[in-house]
Amino acid sequence: MSTPFATIPDDGTPLRVVVVGAGGMGRAWLNTVEQSPEVELAGIVDLDLDAARAAAAAIGRPDLPVGTVTAALAADVGARAVINVTVPAAHHPVTTEALSAGLPVLGEKPVASTVVQGLSLAAAAELSGQLFMVSQSRRYNRQLFEAKRLAASLGSVGIVSAEFFKAPHFGGFRDAMDHPLLLDMAIHQFDMARFLLDADPVSVFCEEYNPSWSWYRGDAGASAIFEMTGGERFVFTGSWCSPGQETSWNASWRISGEHGTVLWDGDNDPTVETAESTGATGTAGGQDPGQEIAGSLRDFVAALRTGSTPMGQVHRNIMSLVMVEAAVLSASTGTRVSVDALLEESYRQAILEERDPGALEVLKSWPSARTALSAR
Ligand SMILES: NC(=O)c1ccc[n+]([C@@H]2O[C@H](COP(=O)([O-])OP(=O)(O)OC[C@H]3O[C@@H](n4cnc5c(N)ncnc54)[C@H](O)[C@@H]3O)[C@@H](O)[C@H]2O)c1
Repeated sequence: MSTPFATIPDDGTPLRVVVVGAGGMGRAWLNTVEQSPEVELAGIVDLDLDAARAAAAAIGRPDLPVGTVTAALAADVGARAVINVTVPAAHHPVTTEALSAGLPVLGEKPVASTVVQGLSLAAAAELSGQLFMVSQSRRYNRQLFEAKRLAASLGSVGIVSAEFFKAPHFGGFRDAMDHPLLLDMAIHQFDMARFLLDADPVSVFCEEYNPSWSWYRGDAGASAIFEMTGGERFVFTGSWCSPGQETSWNASWRISGEHGTVLWDGDNDPTVETAESTGATGTAGGQDPGQEIAGSLRDFVAALRTGSTPMGQVHRNIMSLVMVEAAVLSASTGTRVSVDALLEESYRQAILEERDPGALEVLKSWPSARTALSAR
């Protein structure tokens, strides 16, 4: 298959990037970019120029160019790529602006606020011929890779479960959201389950609830059962108001197969138990995907340099947001939700809402959303 995006061959110099969004996560990205020999920070964009200047000062570069318009600052400083760490509502406008200026984009999760907007971004990436990759950072974890490798020794895998129990007091927007756990957190575990199983969702039944002592306005607890394309079940149970014996931020995982089980507590090496073998394993010799956002940055640069397709390429990533929307819909209607039905409804809506004539043509050229997303 031909390379679906423009590459930037390695000329021995680091890739010049601008970071858009100088909030909490933006600052984590700025530190990661500064530490990477593969990229060079050329500027910071934020609607709030004071935030951009403060973030530049915090990394010891107070003279770094800052601005409020991504394409303009990128052109001024000769940037070749954009890292979009804005709030979800700004993912669509900032990424489309960058793509249409001929700049590849590495964007924070979720791909966009809605699946409808995510499909629009996939079309914008096709139209521009530029790479748009979503950084789903919890995939970049050696232990997760090792758990997947061990799961291959289990024969058929039938059940994957993830338990997530934490009790953070964030303050701010999460405390006031309608679906704080499903929308802001569970997308990580949903995406990790897709990775572990090499499978996509078929349907989901989900219940959301708010424990009596919860300090969140919206539902801080949820349980969801997904049927996956291989017939497996992925079961997620989580709470954001459960102090004591808290799990890892990665969740605690069980992978159950025909010949045995893999356990991963999310923070230490996974273990496997089969008829033939029992015990802990090390990850020293295993594949090293890099660690969290440093790993996704490395994947992004490698893709631009070589044309390889990264794990978070937009078409590949959208199904993780589909899982979130399908779970929310199931919880609000009390029914089992078909993922294809939700996806095709979003596709119809994306065609109705698309304002860019070129992206509209791309969307209309897809035989179906599922086909277009799986073709990449
Ligand atoms: N991977 C992870 O583990 C992880 C953790 C935290 C946050 N995130 C994601 O990172 C993103 C940012 O989260 P955050 O916590 O840093 O948010 P934040 O609210 O702290 O910061 C967002 C920044 O974006 C700026 N901004 C908003 N709209 C903009 C626009 N149109 N152009 C330029 N700047 C704009 C805001 O002024 C703000 O400074 C979100 O998508 C969030 O889901 C990921």
